[in-house]
Amino acid sequence: MITRYSYSPMIETGAVVREITVSAGAPEPFTLTEDGGFLLRMDEKCRVYGLGEAIRGINKRGWVYTSWCSDDPFHTEDKRSLYGAHNFLIFDGEVRFGAFFDLPGKITFDLGYTDSDTAVIKPESLHLDLYIITGDTLKAIVSEFRSLIGKSYIPPAWAFGYGQSRWGYVTEKDIRDCADRYRDAGIPLSMLYLDIDYMDSFKDFTVHPERFPDLKAFAQEMKARGIRLIPIIDAAVKREAGYSVYDEGHEKGYFCKDADGEDYVVGVWPGMSVLPDFLNPEASKWFGQQYKALTDLGIEGFWNDMNEPALFYSERGLNDAFKEIKDLEEAPLDALNFFGVRDTLVRLQNSEDDYKRFWHDTPQGKFSHYDVHNLYGYHMTKSAYEALCDLLGEPPLLFSRASYIGAHRYGGIWTGDNSSWWGHILQSLQQMAGLNMCGFLFSGSDIGGFGGDCTRDLLIRWMSFALFTPLMRNHAAFGTRSQEAFAFGDTEVFRHIIELRYRLIPYLHSAFEKAAKEDGMYFRPLAFDYEDDEIAATVEDQLMVGDSLMIAPIYVQNAVARHVYLPEPMTQIRMHEGEISTEELKEGWHYIPVPLGDVVYFTTSPIPLAEPVVNTAESDGNN
Ligand code: NOJ
Repeated sequence: MITRYSYSPMIETGAVVREITVSAGAPEPFTLTEDGGFLLRMDEKCRVYGLGEAIRGINKRGWVYTSWCSDDPFHTEDKRSLYGAHNFLIFDGEVRFGAFFDLPGKITFDLGYTDSDTAVIKPESLHLDLYIITGDTLKAIVSEFRSLIGKSYIPPAWAFGYGQSRWGYVTEKDIRDCADRYRDAGIPLSMLYLDIDYMDSFKDFTVHPERFPDLKAFAQEMKARGIRLIPIIDAAVKREAGYSVYDEGHEKGYFCKDADGEDYVVGVWPGMSVLPDFLNPEASKWFGQQYKALTDLGIEGFWNDMNEPALFYSERGLNDAFKEIKDLEEAPLDALNFFGVRDTLVRLQNSEDDYKRFWHDTPQGKFSHYDVHNLYGYHMTKSAYEALCDLLGEPPLLFSRASYIGAHRYGGIWTGDNSSWWGHILQSLQQMAGLNMCGFLFSGSDIGGFGGDCTRDLLIRWMSFALFTPLMRNHAAFGTRSQEAFAFGDTEVFRHIIELRYRLIPYLHSAFEKAAKEDGMYFRPLAFDYEDDEIAATVEDQLMVGDSLMIAPIYVQNAVARHVYLPEPMTQIRMHEGEISTEELKEGWHYIPVPLGDVVYFTTSPIPLAEPVVNTAESDGNN
């Protein structure tokens, strides 16, 4: 059951697709605090699930989270915000219910951080719709919530293949070489991603004339080998007279404006740029149509980036900063002044002052970006999805960095700039649980880690987990050590793991489709399947995948075994050097050896494996 409480919401976010009548009265079981917060006393056993893409555990209790789409590449435990704003959570205590706080601005979830037995959820201003969701089981609460927010995006079948990406493949030759190395190693590959260097001067919807002299022919050549090219699109558009996307958008008034009605100018990869007003339906439609420049070249999938939106600086902020620094030039350069100079520039990045200084022109009125910040990435995804469905005649592969609930209907997400750290395998697993509750089924993290240098063992372990994530993409930052499946010399071990992914695709794909169509979860914490099992409820490093599979990956360097909890008798499936063996195990705790290169998972009923694929074209039924 869903009960809605309405506190003069300032804008319709588009998250909800079902009409629910507003209830009067108190938003039980919360009590409203004097300063507009929602308070709940949590009993000792109460667990808190949800919040989508966030740091820390599957059980979110004990920390404080702020929904504020943030471009922050350091996903450390002390952070409060990442790229997504997913305001749905479930309290599982003596009282059990879900709550969705539907508002476009900032909201903080203090889940026993200030006071260990109290949750206080505090929107910056009390303009929101609150939905309280009840159900007999945790799964029922999730599916009731999902019926409220609409069906999850389903990508094309080929998107379940393995993809290689790297910020640093600059030319057609770099990409072809990568494809060749995969082919020579006999490792299946379905997608190669193009990062910003394929563009001409980082201008959206352009192709660098020397680096990719004939992208159409190249895309065709790759597709014939079973590999799709997936380019990146950034939110900001370079301000450059003569660049048709800028000229047209500027002329039609489609970019976000300052208080005086001038385009607000920000600095991102292309330098001085402007921001499409995705909250203006006409502007959003227009931006979506720009993808045609690339679909005409045979492109069928995209990743949308920098859409929090990420700002390195703004023209105005930069000018002010230069003035401040100039003033400090005359002053003695003591520590205070020195840090003053340094911080004046650091503060420019993703500054809330900038977010307050530009405006959206929506059908519901004009809004300062700051007030609707969390909707920006969502509406970029919507713009792209709707246009691409039209242009391609079918849904594209599409995923985004920033998101809000509602975006799950139009695309997937990846979890942004993680690092080549062991802890980020576990973090990714825990994020998958939260994301699935919020409808973001097509998701995954940068395999091997984006920032920092990856090692062979880290890549093996990461892939052994990520072969189960719907989006399986290896991606790394510019300047980091190579981390392709061929980068560490011996390729066999990676070939076996990636081949296993392809062998499992029939199961994974149908589990995904079932979850999407039935408002279910592809990944689930054990607590969701074994509600009466007190141990299962505390397991933070295993997940159920589909109806009959459980994973328990290794995420500690040099570990060769781990404890695994089986809530019921299960079959252990072991892949060792490409060979599959099985063993029946009783319920309870087991200490399972998992030597580097072995993949171990558990099933509750038999799962068919496809025949191993020989080459990539063969692995892709859609050619
Ligand atoms: C930031 C994205 O998160 C990352 O994946 C990408 O490689 C860089 N932008 C460069 O485009």
